[in-house]
Amino acid sequence: MRLDLAAALAWPCLTLALALLLAACSDSSDDGGSREIFRDPSAPVEDRVEDLLGRMSLEEKVEQMHGLQLGSVDDLYLTPANERLGIPGFRMVDGPRGLRAGQATAFPVGMARGATFDPELEERVGRAIGAETSAHGGNVLLAPVVNLLRHPRWGRAQETYGEDPHHLGEMGVAFVRGAQEHVVASVKHFALNSIENVRFSVSANADERTLREVYLPHFRKTVEAGVGSVMSAYNRVNGTYCSESRHLLTDILFDEWGFDGFVESDWVFGVNDTVAPALAGLSIEMPMARFLGPKLLAAVEAGEVPESAIDAAVRRILRIMIRFGIYDGRPGQDSAVIASPEHTALALEVARKAIVLLRNQAGTLPLDASRVGSIAVVGVLADQANLGDHGSSRVVPPYAVTPLAGIRAHAGGVSVEHFATDTPSPEDLERIGAADAAIVVVGLTDDDEGENLVSHGDRDRPGLREEQERLVSEVAGRNPRTIVVLEGGSAITLESWIDSTAAILMAWYPGLEGGNAIGEVLFGETVPSGKLPLTFARSEDQLPPFFADRDEVEYGYLHGYRFVDRMAHEPRFPFGFGLSYTSFALSGLAVETAEVPADGTLRVRVDVENTGPVAGDEVVQLYVGYPESRVERPVRELRGFRRVGLAPGERRTVTLEVLAGDLAFWDESTEAWEVEATAYDLWVGTSSRDLPLRERFRVVGAQASAGQG
Ligand code: BGC
Repeated sequence: MRLDLAAALAWPCLTLALALLLAACSDSSDDGGSREIFRDPSAPVEDRVEDLLGRMSLEEKVEQMHGLQLGSVDDLYLTPANERLGIPGFRMVDGPRGLRAGQATAFPVGMARGATFDPELEERVGRAIGAETSAHGGNVLLAPVVNLLRHPRWGRAQETYGEDPHHLGEMGVAFVRGAQEHVVASVKHFALNSIENVRFSVSANADERTLREVYLPHFRKTVEAGVGSVMSAYNRVNGTYCSESRHLLTDILFDEWGFDGFVESDWVFGVNDTVAPALAGLSIEMPMARFLGPKLLAAVEAGEVPESAIDAAVRRILRIMIRFGIYDGRPGQDSAVIASPEHTALALEVARKAIVLLRNQAGTLPLDASRVGSIAVVGVLADQANLGDHGSSRVVPPYAVTPLAGIRAHAGGVSVEHFATDTPSPEDLERIGAADAAIVVVGLTDDDEGENLVSHGDRDRPGLREEQERLVSEVAGRNPRTIVVLEGGSAITLESWIDSTAAILMAWYPGLEGGNAIGEVLFGETVPSGKLPLTFARSEDQLPPFFADRDEVEYGYLHGYRFVDRMAHEPRFPFGFGLSYTSFALSGLAVETAEVPADGTLRVRVDVENTGPVAGDEVVQLYVGYPESRVERPVRELRGFRRVGLAPGERRTVTLEVLAGDLAFWDESTEAWEVEATAYDLWVGTSSRDLPLRERFRVVGAQASAGQG
């Protein structure tokens, strides 16, 4: 008995000693017998990277700089493994509204999530999509999209969060934080990518100030949050392809922002040369080697590209592979997380918080089942799961709740009849008119907007298709209680029909649980709380021009609410707008100090109270104006926001912070940021045009600095 015990104890010790001995032996490599630091998970990342890089031949390094093949394997895009050195390769997969592989949770699209103004919720979405990506075997998630929406007709508007750089940055950072608990996030598309039809060729031209202040700050925030990868855009900026832009990649991204991850190209047509991208700072050509394979090797051998540029590019790849545990074989998530009940519940929560109540005449909504006994649901889209475009962000969910199914599920005893047509007959219209209320489901689909693959690209028109516009007018002409449920990924002009309607909900592309969220909001189980992350103009005259067919396009300093504010236009619905079933009052605006150092933080307090009958969420918004600036600036800009949930009668104090450094402008003459020591206006309210509270503060001790914020 005693002996057995001794033996049992001795064996593991012996085995361990043997293992250590073997490990020590294998710890010396063929090349020079040096210790293989790169294999040691406890060694510092940079030591491992340098050790690994130092062992790679030029061929091995170049091999890391391109994807493996055009088509994806199991929906994953691979980069090459290197067995000799244990490099596993990346396994990349889209995308922004969920895992684009197999069946997965289809979340509401980015624009819908932007309407939640809820970064904490977005972090959970990022975490969920990251977990599903990991469970599918992916280790790089090609999301989030933080391209600024310059014009609502951009076909891929649905993938991003909206038109405001501050808001985009907050939402993008939240997604990255969540996703990177599981995988590497790849923020895209760097930069000025917001026209689809000519995406492979168009040059978006912007002066340096516009670039720095309007189109890049949100990317910078994701870099500061530690994003591992950046995808360069297809288009050109000021004449240079993004993947070849030394200015964008090296000067700004690497040198100024300190990004130490890798840049991969957008797919197939995102790389157009060999030498230029290699010198600009691109690390990986995706999805295969057209320019950065044998041609790059030849360019190095011909002395056109120094090997140091290859080292720099590969160093970035190896660093992220090691930092994120990919090199060490970090285990993936369990496949049970894919479309799990938790994730579909999260998709429902997001859809609820994303729906924006645009119009509600005479308290039409919520529908009161005691007064509304019969409902006509009208439109082809009512019975379709309209989840967004069919491009790279497409997600195939295991199920999807249509608006009709959601309405039926939440209608209680109300009778619901569906008219599955956009061209109702006179008899149909007769019956629709006789119902106690009509719900018309209309909007955009993959046929109207989306990534330019098999389908459409940029929108031809700012409004609905004529047939749908006619449908709404006809139904509203018959039924005074006509409620419109709108779907789509961007702003829609409504002028020809809005006045005849009783209520309008913007439901976006609401994800696999969207129908339930719509049903809940219509019947008052959920109080709407979404806010527009973009301006709803009355017509395109209120927007900067949009050209979907030009070779070069000018991106001016003003767009969206900045443009309508400067031009003193009255948009139909301003940025930040959204109604509720309850009411809120803001009061007691207080700035902590009236003077803020240029490198300091302004703290602002405001009381928000739910003055209405039901619990609800409000989004408190803070805007800053520049009354004494010596340069042209927007009338005001969003600089802070907070979503608050309040019971009826409840009051809370919300604190918002503004970094004085974020108020800097880019001085083209000195090529540096400058925070002006001057007075600033501060507004707090519930949309960009409903700002009841106002204060003034000063920034003191101005400083010019190389980096913003
Ligand atoms: C899109 C990217 C996407 C990539 C891979 C490209 O066409 O622009 O957003 O990540 O395809 O699917």
